Amino acid sequence: MEKDINIAIVGGTGSLGSALALRLVAPGVRVIIGSRDREKARTVVESLRKILGKGSLEGETNQEAVQEAEFVVIAVPYEGHATTVAQLKGQLTGKTVIDAVVPLKKGRPFVPPAGSALMEAQEILGDEAPVIGALHNISAVDLQSPDASLGDVLVCGDNDAAKQKVMEIIHKIGARTFDAGPAANGYVIEGLTGILIYLNRKYKSKHASVKVTGISD
Ligand SMILES: NC(=O)c1ccc[n+]([C@@H]2O[C@H](COP(=O)([O-])OP(=O)(O)OC[C@H]3O[C@@H](n4cnc5c(N)ncnc54)[C@H](OP(=O)(O)O)[C@@H]3O)[C@@H](O)[C@H]2O)c1
Repeated sequence: MEKDINIAIVGGTGSLGSALALRLVAPGVRVIIGSRDREKARTVVESLRKILGKGSLEGETNQEAVQEAEFVVIAVPYEGHATTVAQLKGQLTGKTVIDAVVPLKKGRPFVPPAGSALMEAQEILGDEAPVIGALHNISAVDLQSPDASLGDVLVCGDNDAAKQKVMEIIHKIGARTFDAGPAANGYVIEGLTGILIYLNRKYKSKHASVKVTGISD
Protein backbone atom coordinates (compact mmCIF):
# COMPACT_ATOMS: atom_id res chain seq x y z
CA MET A 1 0.00 0.00 0.00
CA GLU A 2 2.82 2.43 0.95
CA LYS A 3 4.49 1.75 -2.41
CA ASP A 4 1.56 3.44 -4.08
CA ILE A 5 2.34 6.76 -2.46
CA ASN A 6 4.55 9.02 -4.57
CA ILE A 7 5.91 12.16 -2.96
CA ALA A 8 7.96 14.84 -4.69
CA ILE A 9 10.10 17.08 -2.51
CA VAL A 10 10.75 20.40 -4.22
CA GLY A 11 14.05 21.68 -2.83
CA GLY A 12 14.64 18.12 -1.64
CA THR A 13 18.43 18.53 -1.85
CA GLY A 14 18.37 20.71 1.27
CA SER A 15 18.48 19.92 4.98
CA LEU A 16 14.75 19.41 5.51
CA GLY A 17 14.00 17.74 2.18
CA SER A 18 16.78 15.18 2.26
CA ALA A 19 16.12 14.25 5.90
CA LEU A 20 12.41 13.94 5.14
CA ALA A 21 13.22 11.70 2.18
CA LEU A 22 15.10 9.33 4.48
CA ARG A 23 12.15 9.09 6.85
CA LEU A 24 9.62 8.54 4.04
CA VAL A 25 11.53 6.01 1.94
CA ALA A 26 12.25 3.76 4.95
CA PRO A 27 8.55 2.78 5.41
CA GLY A 28 8.13 2.22 1.65
CA VAL A 29 7.03 5.55 0.21
CA ARG A 30 8.41 6.42 -3.24
CA VAL A 31 10.19 9.77 -3.06
CA ILE A 32 11.35 11.93 -5.94
CA ILE A 33 13.81 14.58 -4.85
CA GLY A 34 13.47 17.77 -6.86
CA SER A 35 16.08 20.40 -7.51
CA ARG A 36 16.67 23.31 -9.85
CA ASP A 37 19.59 21.19 -11.05
CA ARG A 38 18.93 17.55 -12.00
CA GLU A 39 22.56 16.50 -11.42
CA LYS A 40 22.51 17.97 -7.93
CA ALA A 41 19.33 15.99 -7.17
CA ARG A 42 20.94 12.77 -8.40
CA THR A 43 24.10 13.36 -6.36
CA VAL A 44 22.02 13.83 -3.21
CA VAL A 45 20.02 10.70 -4.06
CA GLU A 46 23.24 8.68 -4.37
CA SER A 47 24.40 9.79 -0.93
CA LEU A 48 20.99 9.08 0.63
CA ARG A 49 20.91 5.61 -0.96
CA LYS A 50 24.15 4.77 0.85
CA ILE A 51 22.39 5.47 4.14
CA LEU A 52 19.11 3.79 3.18
CA GLY A 53 20.39 0.68 1.45
CA LYS A 54 17.04 0.01 -0.21
CA GLY A 55 13.89 1.87 -1.09
CA SER A 56 12.47 3.91 -3.92
CA LEU A 57 14.29 7.22 -4.29
CA GLU A 58 14.92 9.24 -7.44
CA GLY A 59 16.28 12.66 -8.30
CA GLU A 60 14.89 14.99 -10.98
CA THR A 61 14.35 18.65 -11.67
CA ASN A 62 11.57 20.17 -9.58
CA GLN A 63 9.30 20.24 -12.63
CA GLU A 64 9.91 16.58 -13.47
CA ALA A 65 9.65 15.46 -9.85
CA VAL A 66 6.10 16.74 -9.39
CA GLN A 67 4.80 15.04 -12.53
CA GLU A 68 4.58 11.55 -11.00
CA ALA A 69 3.68 12.56 -7.47
CA GLU A 70 0.31 12.86 -5.74
CA PHE A 71 1.89 14.84 -2.91
CA VAL A 72 4.32 17.71 -3.44
CA VAL A 73 6.32 19.02 -0.49
CA ILE A 74 7.65 22.57 -0.87
CA ALA A 75 10.95 22.73 1.04
CA VAL A 76 12.79 25.78 -0.26
CA PRO A 77 13.89 28.92 1.61
CA TYR A 78 11.21 31.60 1.72
CA GLU A 79 13.19 33.81 -0.71
CA GLY A 80 12.51 31.26 -3.45
CA HIS A 81 9.00 30.25 -2.33
CA ALA A 82 6.71 32.33 -4.54
CA THR A 83 8.85 31.88 -7.65
CA THR A 84 9.11 28.13 -7.10
CA VAL A 85 5.36 27.69 -6.60
CA ALA A 86 4.62 29.90 -9.61
CA GLN A 87 6.95 27.77 -11.76
CA LEU A 88 4.98 24.65 -10.77
CA LYS A 89 1.58 26.20 -11.46
CA GLY A 90 -0.26 24.30 -14.17
CA GLN A 91 1.38 20.99 -13.15
CA LEU A 92 -0.31 20.44 -9.80
CA THR A 93 -3.89 19.62 -10.74
CA GLY A 94 -5.19 16.71 -8.66
CA LYS A 95 -2.19 16.82 -6.30
CA THR A 96 -1.87 17.92 -2.70
CA VAL A 97 0.78 20.50 -1.84
CA ILE A 98 2.46 20.29 1.58
CA ASP A 99 4.08 23.62 2.38
CA ALA A 100 6.82 23.52 5.04
CA VAL A 101 8.25 26.95 4.30
CA VAL A 102 8.90 29.41 7.12
CA PRO A 103 9.15 33.10 6.18
CA LEU A 104 12.44 34.16 7.78
CA LYS A 105 14.67 37.20 7.36
CA LYS A 106 18.10 36.80 8.97
CA GLY A 107 16.70 33.95 11.05
CA ARG A 108 13.74 36.00 12.28
CA PRO A 109 10.15 35.18 11.38
CA PHE A 110 7.87 37.65 9.63
CA VAL A 111 4.37 37.58 8.21
CA PRO A 112 4.42 37.90 4.41
CA PRO A 113 1.85 40.08 2.60
CA ALA A 114 -0.41 37.10 1.77
CA GLY A 115 -0.72 36.28 5.50
CA SER A 116 1.62 33.27 5.53
CA ALA A 117 3.74 31.18 3.16
CA LEU A 118 0.84 28.71 2.99
CA MET A 119 -1.63 31.42 1.93
CA GLU A 120 0.88 32.81 -0.55
CA ALA A 121 1.13 29.39 -2.20
CA GLN A 122 -2.65 28.98 -2.23
CA GLU A 123 -3.06 32.46 -3.71
CA ILE A 124 -0.64 31.57 -6.51
CA LEU A 125 -2.22 28.18 -7.20
CA GLY A 126 -5.87 29.20 -6.78
CA ASP A 127 -8.15 26.18 -7.15
CA GLU A 128 -5.51 24.08 -8.88
CA ALA A 129 -4.44 22.20 -5.72
CA PRO A 130 -5.06 22.40 -1.98
CA VAL A 131 -2.10 23.67 0.04
CA ILE A 132 -1.63 22.18 3.49
CA GLY A 133 0.88 23.60 5.97
CA ALA A 134 2.96 21.04 7.88
CA LEU A 135 6.42 20.12 9.19
CA HIS A 136 7.45 23.71 10.03
CA ASN A 137 8.39 22.91 13.62
CA ILE A 138 10.23 19.64 12.97
CA SER A 139 14.02 19.62 13.24
CA ALA A 140 15.89 18.34 10.17
CA VAL A 141 18.62 17.17 12.57
CA ASP A 142 16.13 14.85 14.29
CA LEU A 143 14.57 13.78 10.99
CA GLN A 144 17.87 12.55 9.62
CA SER A 145 18.52 10.32 12.64
CA PRO A 146 16.16 7.39 12.15
CA ASP A 147 15.95 6.65 15.87
CA ALA A 148 15.48 10.20 17.09
CA SER A 149 12.03 10.98 18.41
CA LEU A 150 10.32 13.83 16.62
CA GLY A 151 8.33 16.78 17.82
CA ASP A 152 4.62 17.00 17.08
CA VAL A 153 3.47 18.25 13.68
CA LEU A 154 0.76 20.90 13.55
CA VAL A 155 -1.12 20.58 10.27
CA CYS A 156 -3.34 23.34 8.91
CA GLY A 157 -5.29 24.12 5.77
CA ASP A 158 -8.75 24.73 4.40
CA ASN A 159 -9.28 21.38 2.65
CA ASP A 160 -10.16 18.81 5.33
CA ALA A 161 -9.77 15.75 3.09
CA ALA A 162 -6.30 16.86 1.96
CA LYS A 163 -5.35 17.69 5.55
CA GLN A 164 -6.36 14.19 6.64
CA LYS A 165 -4.24 12.58 3.90
CA VAL A 166 -1.24 14.71 4.86
CA MET A 167 -1.62 13.70 8.51
CA GLU A 168 -1.61 10.03 7.49
CA ILE A 169 1.62 10.54 5.54
CA ILE A 170 3.30 12.36 8.39
CA HIS A 171 2.45 9.44 10.70
CA LYS A 172 4.74 7.36 8.52
CA ILE A 173 7.78 9.41 9.51
CA GLY A 174 7.08 8.64 13.16
CA ALA A 175 5.59 11.93 14.30
CA ARG A 176 2.32 12.69 16.06
CA THR A 177 0.13 15.02 14.06
CA PHE A 178 -2.59 17.42 15.10
CA ASP A 179 -5.23 19.12 12.99
CA ALA A 180 -4.33 22.70 13.88
CA GLY A 181 -7.19 24.31 12.00
CA PRO A 182 -7.65 26.38 8.86
CA ALA A 183 -5.05 27.98 6.61
CA ALA A 184 -5.59 31.22 8.55
CA ASN A 185 -3.66 29.61 11.45
CA GLY A 186 -0.62 29.06 9.23
CA TYR A 187 1.22 32.24 10.21
CA VAL A 188 1.23 31.18 13.87
CA ILE A 189 2.69 27.75 13.11
CA GLU A 190 5.23 29.18 10.66
CA GLY A 191 6.20 31.90 13.15
CA LEU A 192 6.65 29.40 15.96
CA THR A 193 9.72 28.14 14.12
CA GLY A 194 11.28 31.56 14.72
CA ILE A 195 10.93 30.88 18.45
CA LEU A 196 12.44 27.41 18.04
CA ILE A 197 15.42 28.93 16.19
CA TYR A 198 15.84 31.39 19.06
CA LEU A 199 15.65 28.55 21.61
CA ASN A 200 18.26 26.57 19.70
CA ARG A 201 20.61 29.55 19.80
CA LYS A 202 19.89 30.44 23.41
CA TYR A 203 20.19 26.88 24.75
CA LYS A 204 22.84 25.66 22.29
CA SER A 205 20.64 22.97 20.78
CA LYS A 206 19.83 21.90 17.23
CA HIS A 207 16.50 20.26 17.73
CA ALA A 208 14.08 22.35 19.69
CA SER A 209 10.57 21.29 18.68
CA VAL A 210 7.00 21.41 19.98
CA LYS A 211 4.99 18.86 21.94
CA VAL A 212 1.27 19.17 22.55
CA THR A 213 0.16 18.00 25.97
CA GLY A 214 -3.29 17.50 27.40
CA ILE A 215 -4.69 15.59 24.41
CA SER A 216 -4.84 11.80 24.59
CA ASP A 217 -3.76 9.73 21.58
N1 LIG B 1 15.95 22.77 8.16
C1 LIG B 1 14.98 22.58 9.02
O1 LIG B 1 15.19 22.01 10.13
C2 LIG B 1 13.58 23.03 8.71
C3 LIG B 1 12.54 22.60 9.53
C4 LIG B 1 11.24 22.99 9.23
C5 LIG B 1 10.98 23.83 8.15
N2 LIG B 1 12.02 24.25 7.39
C6 LIG B 1 11.71 25.12 6.23
O2 LIG B 1 11.83 24.30 5.09
C7 LIG B 1 12.40 25.04 4.01
C8 LIG B 1 13.68 24.35 3.57
O3 LIG B 1 14.59 24.37 4.63
P1 LIG B 1 16.08 23.83 4.44
O4 LIG B 1 16.78 24.03 5.70
O5 LIG B 1 16.03 22.47 3.82
O6 LIG B 1 16.61 24.88 3.35
P2 LIG B 1 17.92 24.86 2.46
O7 LIG B 1 18.70 23.63 2.75
O8 LIG B 1 18.59 26.18 2.62
O9 LIG B 1 17.32 24.85 0.97
C9 LIG B 1 16.59 23.77 0.46
C10 LIG B 1 16.78 23.71 -1.02
O10 LIG B 1 16.06 24.77 -1.66
C11 LIG B 1 16.66 25.07 -2.91
N3 LIG B 1 16.80 26.53 -2.99
C12 LIG B 1 17.67 27.34 -2.33
N4 LIG B 1 17.45 28.63 -2.64
C13 LIG B 1 16.43 28.63 -3.53
C14 LIG B 1 15.75 29.66 -4.23
N5 LIG B 1 16.06 30.96 -4.09
N6 LIG B 1 14.75 29.30 -5.08
C15 LIG B 1 14.39 27.99 -5.24
N7 LIG B 1 15.02 26.97 -4.61
C16 LIG B 1 16.01 27.30 -3.75
C17 LIG B 1 18.01 24.38 -2.94
O11 LIG B 1 17.88 23.27 -3.80
P3 LIG B 1 18.47 23.23 -5.30
O12 LIG B 1 19.67 24.13 -5.34
O13 LIG B 1 18.82 21.80 -5.42
O14 LIG B 1 17.36 23.66 -6.16
C18 LIG B 1 18.21 23.90 -1.51
O15 LIG B 1 18.94 22.71 -1.42
C19 LIG B 1 12.65 26.46 4.53
O16 LIG B 1 11.60 27.30 4.15
C20 LIG B 1 12.68 26.28 6.04
O17 LIG B 1 12.24 27.44 6.71
C21 LIG B 1 13.31 23.86 7.63
